[in-house]
Amino acid sequence: MEKIIIEGGKKIEGEVTVSGAKNAVLPLMAACILAEGKSTLRNVPDLADVRTMAKLLQILGAEVEFENGVMTIDSSNMNNWVAPYDLVKTMRASVLVLGPLTARFGRARVSLPGGCAIGERPIDQHLKGLEILGSEIEIEEGYIETNAPKLKGGIIPFDVSTVTGTENLILSSVLAEGETMLLNAACEPEVTDLALALNEMGADITGFGTDIITIKGVGKLSPLVDYEVMPDRIEAGTYMIASVITKGDLFIRNCRFENMGALIGKLIEIGAHIKREDGGLRVSSNGEIRSTDITTLPYPGFPTDMQAQMMTLMSTADGLSVLTETIFPQRFLHAGELRRMGADIKLVGNSAVVRGVQGLSGAPTMASDLRASASLVLAGLGATGRTEISRVYHLDRGYDKLDEKLEILGARIWREKE
Ligand code: EPZ
Repeated sequence: MEKIIIEGGKKIEGEVTVSGAKNAVLPLMAACILAEGKSTLRNVPDLADVRTMAKLLQILGAEVEFENGVMTIDSSNMNNWVAPYDLVKTMRASVLVLGPLTARFGRARVSLPGGCAIGERPIDQHLKGLEILGSEIEIEEGYIETNAPKLKGGIIPFDVSTVTGTENLILSSVLAEGETMLLNAACEPEVTDLALALNEMGADITGFGTDIITIKGVGKLSPLVDYEVMPDRIEAGTYMIASVITKGDLFIRNCRFENMGALIGKLIEIGAHIKREDGGLRVSSNGEIRSTDITTLPYPGFPTDMQAQMMTLMSTADGLSVLTETIFPQRFLHAGELRRMGADIKLVGNSAVVRGVQGLSGAPTMASDLRASASLVLAGLGATGRTEISRVYHLDRGYDKLDEKLEILGARIWREKE
């Protein structure tokens, strides 16, 4: 196992290009199950989660090749509908094959995702939707078993706005008989990216990007030809905070301003300088950072996947900030590690009360999940002295060479074997 070491206090300066989005490419890979033949995806990030999904598709019988950001998935000879526990336990997003397998084979057996460090994550809405589309559902030996010779369109009212739930039901209904309507659907840009790709494959989806999505079932889909995965708005947001917390000046290429309104609004409010330039955004700071309150919400609200990174920034801001987590109310494991670096954070219910301190000091820390590990890297960049972060395999699940890119931008950061 590896750990990351950071000598803090270096400005982050220069230019970085944002990779393809983890939370867009995973459902896009699952979508390739629906069309027999070879699909091609571009701008695919080199992440552990992408390799896990590729392995899952191979177990299901697909041929997957991945090199230099280009992935081909040939689903012609897929002949298996069982997603095993050993893989699903390493990545909850594996549940995204449940819908497409049921749609293609009339049945699926997918391991039920287990516990998660960021809190309760049931999939009841995924199953409720599949039942409305006419599938039998059984939970046996820790597996979800679906059975539906032919899925039929219906109206699916979500009780909560769920990203992968919306994606799973879109994937389930594109080949279903008749029309499906998703109510209170998720509006995340990653959902839009999936719908755009499916429409290129011959699907008939409208309303994506809003909370009412309509899918008219079609008879057949063709493989995806050369689809460019959207840029990762969470990776982009993480680099923005790296620039602000180090009083840096960074040009972030290939990030979409229009997908990041809530975060950009907050960064401007606290005193960061953000400028749109050709091909991206310039983010800089003179170090005078004010406190602010944050409430995480479904898109277009403030993303929960930026809460931990924002907590790091508020730890040395001028004043008191209250960060309220409405999506994953217990998503605060990073708070204890930041306290080890001198932050003043009190947890009250699903809120964290952060009183800004002069500065953080380097310390040994431990990552608990993907975004928590990013928040510790940011803390290490801004702190005085040496920070060590263990269990960085969490980071590699969702960031494409974050430490290497930060080193190029001026950080003193490297890896060592634990
Ligand atoms: C997606 O997870 C993302 N993962 C998460 O990113 C992200 O934090 C989350 O959306 C919210 O934006 C992927 O896209 C692969 P949800 P997902 O279903 O779909 C409740 C990262 O760091 N809920 O939108 O699993 C649930 O408990 C990861 O990249 C139900 O109650 O999240 C939560 O409170 C972490 N029943 C809320 O809805 C359900 O059936 C939103 O969860 C489904 C969800």
